[in-house]
Amino acid sequence: MPENKKKTLNELAIFGGAPLFKTTLHVGRPNIMDRDAVISRINQAMDRHWLSNDGPLVKEIEDRFADFLQVKHCIAVTNATMGLQLSAKALNVTGEVIIPSFTFIGTAHAMAWIGLKLVFCDVLSGNHNIDPADVEKRITESVGAIVGVHLWGRACEIDTLQELADRYGIPLIFDAAHAIGSTYKNKRLGGFGNVSVFSLHATKAINSLEGGLVTTNDDALADKIRLLRSYGFEDEDQVSMLGINAKMNEFSAAMGITNLEGYDRIRSHNRHLQVVYRDELSGIEGVNFIQPDEREENNYHYAVMEVGQGSCIRRDSLYRVLVAENVYVRRYFRPGCHRSLPYKISKKNGYLPITERLSATLLQLPTGLQMDLDKARALSRLIHFCLVNGAEIESRLCA
Ligand SMILES: Cc1ncc(COP(=O)(O)O)c(C=O)c1O
Repeated sequence: MPENKKKTLNELAIFGGAPLFKTTLHVGRPNIMDRDAVISRINQAMDRHWLSNDGPLVKEIEDRFADFLQVKHCIAVTNATMGLQLSAKALNVTGEVIIPSFTFIGTAHAMAWIGLKLVFCDVLSGNHNIDPADVEKRITESVGAIVGVHLWGRACEIDTLQELADRYGIPLIFDAAHAIGSTYKNKRLGGFGNVSVFSLHATKAINSLEGGLVTTNDDALADKIRLLRSYGFEDEDQVSMLGINAKMNEFSAAMGITNLEGYDRIRSHNRHLQVVYRDELSGIEGVNFIQPDEREENNYHYAVMEVGQGSCIRRDSLYRVLVAENVYVRRYFRPGCHRSLPYKISKKNGYLPITERLSATLLQLPTGLQMDLDKARALSRLIHFCLVNGAEIESRLCA
């Protein structure tokens, strides 16, 4: 069936029709920019026989991103998970940390894995980011840090969180895994709080295969994170602290630099896709396409819709219908960290109403260079059809 053809109910793949898309569409399919440039950089690294340990490409990626993110120090690491751990260690965080439950499990695991106790808090209904009022309610003597997450590339309420962190004398760490290129008050995220951590994982707007960046304007903190990243080696033999191996390698840096060079194209493409989704999916009862704040920059990598109360079809039913059509939409972040097995034993965290709601209603749609605008239009029309015919689809699914 051509992708631009309108389906009838009987033609939906879940009811026996052929899937609309022959090639599976994914959320977070890697963007691969200039292959020749990547290969040329990798060849240069191989010619140098310098593949890791602060090679020239790692130095270059750090300089390029420090410039791009308007921040003094940028430290390239193996992944954001390690970056979060190095940050907390470098800041000597102990005891408990307050983090939003509505985030990727990696934020929580990073902290728990280094022995910190997690105090989960709720997020704001408007921007899905950590709720400063709820943070304040949970601050006690035992809390050693606040971890905010700039979800969907939208900045947290940074000023309010900073004010809280200052008042209670605790560090503020930002998980900026989603937020490369995004701004707060027209300044790129990266220099806010004590430290920020970006992910360059394959599924992110800019990828370095696996990878991460730790950014800060604090000279002493940056020095310490550099040491911790490489076993605490001060020089050839001298080890001054208990470090770990979190060094980025040269091939990853080659990929990351090249993809950074293609960022404007990625961003602009994603923005066009979001306009298509938004236009087709607005004005339907119970459905809300989450819009980035147009007063700020965003990488537009996350196309998120809410299928909530009032919608004729439930989020999970729509998910099933779309997967059958070869569209691997995602239900991030279901069920919320506080309900995941390693954490849900804790009674202390209580009920988090916004997290519960979002984890039951959000759906992420594919973006990135895999999607051309025609595919986005075809997918939007299909979703629109499912939303409009939701009651009938639900009753057939139950039959
Ligand atoms: C919000 C958030 N934090 C942390 C991470 C972990 O990033 P990495 O895979 O680079 O360790 C991710 C990865 O998807 C994420 O989405």
